This record gives sequence, C-alpha cells and structure tokens, in this order.
Amino acid sequence: MKLLLATHNEHKRREFERLFERTSADGAMVDALPDSVSMPPEDGETFAANALGKARAAAAATGRVSIADDSGIAAAALGGAPGVRSARYAGEHATDTENLEKLLREVPAGSGLEYVCAIAYVDPAGGTERVFEGRCAGRLAEEPRGERGFGYDPAFVPDDGPPSEEGQPARTMAELSDEQKDAISHRGRAARALLQWLEGGARS
Ligand code: IMP
Repeated sequence: MKLLLATHNEHKRREFERLFERTSADGAMVDALPDSVSMPPEDGETFAANALGKARAAAAATGRVSIADDSGIAAAALGGAPGVRSARYAGEHATDTENLEKLLREVPAGSGLEYVCAIAYVDPAGGTERVFEGRCAGRLAEEPRGERGFGYDPAFVPDDGPPSEEGQPARTMAELSDEQKDAISHRGRAARALLQWLEGGARS
C-alpha cells in the first residue's frame, strides 16, 4: 500500500519514510507530494484540524489516499503555547533556529514541554477520514545540545529518553539516534497508531 504524504518538509518526510519502513508489517510506504500541489494555510485551532486540511487538499488534488501531519511543541510555562503556531512562533517566516532561540529565551530551563503530533488519513474514494495523535513529554534543556533531528530538538529533553552517561546531563532529542527518537517521539507514536489501524484492516 502506498500513501501520499502531504508535506513539503524534508525532515518530516525522512522521519515518515523510516517509521513506515521499520514499523509496517505489510510494506506500507509513503510517496512524496508533487511540488505542484500546494498546502492550505495552517490556520486551524487544533493539530487535528490542520492535519486534516493538508490531507484533504492532497487527496482532492491527486485523487490518492493521503496522510498529513501537523505537529508542534506546547510549553507549560506559556500555557500550552506555541502549540499549533510552533512553526511561526518567532514570526510568520521564522526559521527553526529563530523559533528555538525564542523558546530558550521565554521558557525557564527544566520546565515542562510536550511535543504533539496529529496524523490525518483521507481516502477520497471511500470517504474515510481518521486522525491519530501521539505525544512526547519532556522539559527544556539548560542549553541547546546535539546536531541530529530538527526544529526544537536541541532544547527538548524527553522524559523517557535513554539514560545519559554518568555525570552528563540528560540527552536532548537532537542527541538521540534516529531509532531512539522514533521509539519515543510524538510522530513515532502517531505513525504506529495509524499503521496498526491500517494493518488491522479496519479502514471504514
Ligand atoms: P508544522 O507541523 O509544519 O506546522 O510545523 C511544526 C513545528 O513544530 C515546526 O516549527 C517544527 O520545527 C516543530 N516540530 C514538529 N515536530 C518536531 C520534532 O519532531 N522535532 C522538533 N521540532 C518539531
């Protein structure tokens, strides 16, 4: 089974490719979205609404079964912000680095964070729509560390990450291997819920 992945974000595409490769028992795969298909503005109030908007747009433009994710970070110290506005936290066209720096300025080190991911599934022929959600709890690092991952990963210390070396600070998401991130990440959890549903054959 091949699903169209409605994203132009290379980091997310790579994460989905490896999540599907590792998790799918039936060889389900994701196809990249053609450049010609544009995504709607992410102006919904929830991750689920934004993910559905993107999957519906891709399904309508191509006639194919499509999935899309919408994800972000919620800081307890900011009452859950930036949330659905995580990509635009430091401004409309902010870079990942600008968003990360703003979070480090505005949120106290050690305070609670949560990554959230909603994945929407849209089958335009059968009219089926489903949304799967995954979460990952953590806290803000003292300072950014690590070169892997993307976005807020250098500042995010997952609660259920692998133990750090003796005397070393707990590892950030950007210091974990791909396998370690996928095992605990919001996107990994939501993708496994989607695949379990797809492969359980309950697609109606
Ligand atoms: P969107 O889902 O395209 O709206 O963007 C989500 C925002 O949250 C972007 O700023 C991402 O950098 C950030 N984000 C989402 N998932 C992750 C992740 O796994 N690690 C780090 N940042 C993430």
